[in-house]
Amino acid sequence: MKRQTEKQTTRLAAHVFVCTNARDSEYAACADAGADETVEAVKSWLRDRDAFWSPIGVSTTDCLGLCSAEGTAITIQPRNEWYAEVTPADVPALLTDEFGPDADRL
Ligand code: FES
Repeated sequence: MKRQTEKQTTRLAAHVFVCTNARDSEYAACADAGADETVEAVKSWLRDRDAFWSPIGVSTTDCLGLCSAEGTAITIQPRNEWYAEVTPADVPALLTDEFGPDADRL
C-alpha cells in the first residue's frame, strides 16, 4: 500500500464525480437520464479551459443517492457540493458557478 494523499492534494483542486449508475428495476437511475452525455459535457467544459484532470479531476461513480429520471447526480469534492437532475445543458452554468468562467476559481 502506498499513501498518495500529498501527491493528490497537490495536483487536484477539486474532483467532480458524476453518477453513471444503471439499474434494472422500476427505479430511476442516472444511466437512463443522460449520464454519459453529462460526463462528456463536464470533461469538454474543463478541456476547453485546460483544467481537465489537473487541477480538476473527473470520475464516474455509482449511485450518489440522488436518483432521478430527470437528470444525473453530481458531487464536487472536497467542496461537499451536491447536484441532482443535471442535464448536459446545465453543465456550463453549474461549472461556471463552481469554478468561474475560466475554471480558475479553485
Ligand atoms: S442512480 Fe445516480 S444518484 Fe442514484
